[in-house]
Amino acid sequence: MSTAAELLDAARQLEALGLNQGTAGNLSVRSGPGSNQGFWITPSALPLATLAPDDMVYMGLNGHPRGRHRPSSEWRFHRDILVARPEVQAVVHTHAPYATTLACQRRPVPAFHYMVALAGGHDIRCSDYATFGTQALSEAALEALEGRWACLLANHGMIALGGDLTAALDMAREVEYLCRLYHQTLQTGRPHLLDAAEMDRVLARFVDYRRR
Ligand code: 13P
Repeated sequence: MSTAAELLDAARQLEALGLNQGTAGNLSVRSGPGSNQGFWITPSALPLATLAPDDMVYMGLNGHPRGRHRPSSEWRFHRDILVARPEVQAVVHTHAPYATTLACQRRPVPAFHYMVALAGGHDIRCSDYATFGTQALSEAALEALEGRWACLLANHGMIALGGDLTAALDMAREVEYLCRLYHQTLQTGRPHLLDAAEMDRVLARFVDYRRR
């Protein structure tokens, strides 16, 4: 399968999982493993059902698009993440319901469950608010993602990163599941949070867990 076809397939999986709907959300993947040349990104404002692999847009890391459609309006944060984070191969942006619910409260996800460490730290941060499609949003996202594999975007949704497209999809799914659990936990009282020392232990164990 071509990289463009894999990108479209991943976008369809997100929709099938209920993590995106309509024209919400967008995805990107480097044009080749570790490529510093460019990336494939979903086109802007087009429903997935109508799309074929050659509707995906190629964009150089310099921000110049090539293709018959406009790139996603969020190409700035996709490009800026791929430039700033060489370990990242794919970027997934969704308006998944539970992540977006918390993002609308500008509420980060604290260490209420050890799996929060999967995103790379003691919490899942929520970025500052900025208008969609702007450079300001890209800067807010990069800040919230520092050292992390996922973040919430205030009044907007989430971003999940991966060492490949499948890992980025899995991260988006895990973050949405954690947001759902956190939302549910808040309905039933006050969560007991894990302390920083415990989260450090979990982070260390995850390194070993991934190696296996
Ligand atoms: P695009 O259709 O331009 O990708 O925009 C959707 C979106 O989710 C903007 O944040």
